[in-house]
Amino acid sequence: KKISVASAPGKTILFGEHSVVYDEPAIAGAVNKRATVSLCKSHNNYSTLKSNDLGFEVIMDTRRGTYTLKRGKPGIIRYILNAMGKFHDHTSIDMDLSLNLPIGSGLGSSAAVTVATIAALHHYHGVDFNKETLAKEAHAVEEEVQGIASPLDTLVSTYGGLVYLSREKRIVPFDNNLDAPFVIGYTSKYGNTGKVVKKVKTLKNNYPELVNPIIDTMGKIANEARVAILKNDIDKIADLMNLNQGLLDSLGVNTYELSRMIYTARDNGAVASKITGSGGGGSIISLCREDNVDEVAEAINVEDRTIKVKFSKDGVLVNR
Ligand code: MEV
Repeated sequence: KKISVASAPGKTILFGEHSVVYDEPAIAGAVNKRATVSLCKSHNNYSTLKSNDLGFEVIMDTRRGTYTLKRGKPGIIRYILNAMGKFHDHTSIDMDLSLNLPIGSGLGSSAAVTVATIAALHHYHGVDFNKETLAKEAHAVEEEVQGIASPLDTLVSTYGGLVYLSREKRIVPFDNNLDAPFVIGYTSKYGNTGKVVKKVKTLKNNYPELVNPIIDTMGKIANEARVAILKNDIDKIADLMNLNQGLLDSLGVNTYELSRMIYTARDNGAVASKITGSGGGGSIISLCREDNVDEVAEAINVEDRTIKVKFSKDGVLVNR
């Protein structure tokens, strides 16, 4: 029986959230936590999707793009059904989704699931594809499902590794990887990106002479960070992350919960700690050392909302 398997990583933003909206550079990278989709021909006359990690099981009508729930809450299913509407011939298949990155944590779980689903479907149907087309197809699915979506998530999930996003929105991959342990902590509140971006825009419009230089400095930080990453200069990367955090705070995107996590991480030995993603809820990222990463993860852990990650060179992988 032919089984097609594809996996794709989640991502995190290291530098440049918010300032990237004003065309400043940013740095993001794929992490070593992935979504994996396996699929094979079904003996039933309907398609199924099961995820033990997410605790759900559904029967799908891929032609209509609808599903019947057998158990659980299939939040991520809209992406899968949309991808199947575009890239599947509607014959019956059984799908399995495993996800070792949390949903709603700013780690790009929906992009990872979408990229892995499309890659698995292409493999199943013997369709040739490359990373460029796959990233575009996955972005189109995200846009249709979400309304708007940054192309960065699907790009990083497809290509893997660390990338520098230039002012001109060119993606420049780093040849090297940053081999340091990070901890992501996510708060109880999902960050509403649209709302937070608007809040920064209002502040910028009301106080351009004060806020423009802050955004400009964030761009400079990302550029300094690019050099520091190329040199694997961890001390400098740490300084730059902490500086970036101060500026994010000044833009009003911090919250008590994020702030508490950031200082708890720092107090427990994290060399740097900052918001990752939009803030206003959402997540933090802490740069640790191998000898204190467990301690930091433990200290900031509230209700299992912590995950240890490393940046990873691996983008989408098919049948491996
Ligand atoms: C959110 O992940 C990153 C922001 O810069 C918004 C965006 O770039 O779309 C806050």
